[in-house]
Amino acid sequence: MEYYIKPTEQGPKVQKQLDVSVSVALNPEELTFLDPACGSGHILVEAYDLFKEIYLERGYRSKDIPRIVLEKNLYGIDIDERAAQLSCFALLMKARQDDIRIMHRDKLKMNVIAMQSTKHLDAGRIAATLIQEKTHRLIETNELFPELKKQPILSVKKTPGITQDDISNLIALFKDAKTLGSLIRISKGLKNSLEQIKAFINEKNNKRNPLEKETARQLKPFILQTELLYKKYDCVVTNPPYMGGKGMNGRLKSYLKDNYAEVKSDLFSAFIVRNTEFALPKGQLGFMTPFVWMFISSYEKLRSFLIDQKTITSLVQLEYSGFDGATVPICTFTLENAHNPDFKGGYVRLSDFKGAAVQGPKCLEIIQAARRTGK
Ligand SMILES: C[S@@+](CC[C@H](N)C(=O)[O-])C[C@H]1O[C@@H](n2cnc3c(N)ncnc32)[C@H](O)[C@@H]1O
Repeated sequence: MEYYIKPTEQGPKVQKQLDVSVSVALNPEELTFLDPACGSGHILVEAYDLFKEIYLERGYRSKDIPRIVLEKNLYGIDIDERAAQLSCFALLMKARQDDIRIMHRDKLKMNVIAMQSTKHLDAGRIAATLIQEKTHRLIETNELFPELKKQPILSVKKTPGITQDDISNLIALFKDAKTLGSLIRISKGLKNSLEQIKAFINEKNNKRNPLEKETARQLKPFILQTELLYKKYDCVVTNPPYMGGKGMNGRLKSYLKDNYAEVKSDLFSAFIVRNTEFALPKGQLGFMTPFVWMFISSYEKLRSFLIDQKTITSLVQLEYSGFDGATVPICTFTLENAHNPDFKGGYVRLSDFKGAAVQGPKCLEIIQAARRTGK
């Protein structure tokens, strides 16, 4: 929290909005926090500590806090299986420090997942196994009574509410999930029918028929990943992957062209836009990204999007090689998921302080000076 850039003094209109967002009426158990490219979980672990502070402040018993934070507050997605496992492990170790018996109590239901691909699944076979769409053809009257006038053929389709197409579409959506990951969007249609599909798959999963049961079991992870991808979160924070067009495979390139046309130059810029979709209106977002988007012409549309539709609440620009081990010039910034033109953001420019070692201390110096002077 020492690096927190507290909003400077605002006009009365903005101040009123800020007061609402830190209201004691907020129920911390309803707050959700997502890192959609969570890697080994550094950001989620920091978020764990913040939530813990919030619960302690509210008088929760410390041993009750870890389960609530892991089950209700924190969400993570990655395309990499190992990364997601490491995130879970890091969070579990955190939780265990606060409740040594956490792993011996009821099974923990964490919300950190590695995206799963459906490439290996045969959509047609699965859909047909789960749903026998019976088409009953009514016999034409003139087949029985040739003397009668020819009648049109009628057919009746009998389905259990959802169709083979619903199942096939769900499977098709995640064919390239290991490449596209959190950038996959969930259509309104799928969102609306998901509860029905979920209930149907759960029902099949409880059936005696081993084939149906096994088929339903194969689909279960895709229900959870659909839910995490369409859910809206109060807070979305990430250090997204950075990858220009040259590093992308054909599928990723064409997906960005079709779905993120205005920000397709790099994966990080697509993630900036995607994260604003993950966030609730007025939700809070945090990023660590290359700082090129502030300067070069290929990111003009991204700049307009951020300035005209969102609010930059703080931004720290590091010096060109300001981060040890990273070969890209970096900035960190926070957004509010709403356009609030009267908001005065807090900006720190570290370009004149050379060397990774001085970046942190200089940043703190500037933040503390701003806190003292209220500017
Ligand atoms: C810069 S790292 C994030 C590091 C992370 N903050 C940590 O604590 O380890 C970017 C992560 O994004 C993941 N990733 C890449 N493409 C992705 C996608 N399309 N959807 C979700 N995650 C993705 C990578 O597997 C990697 O773990």
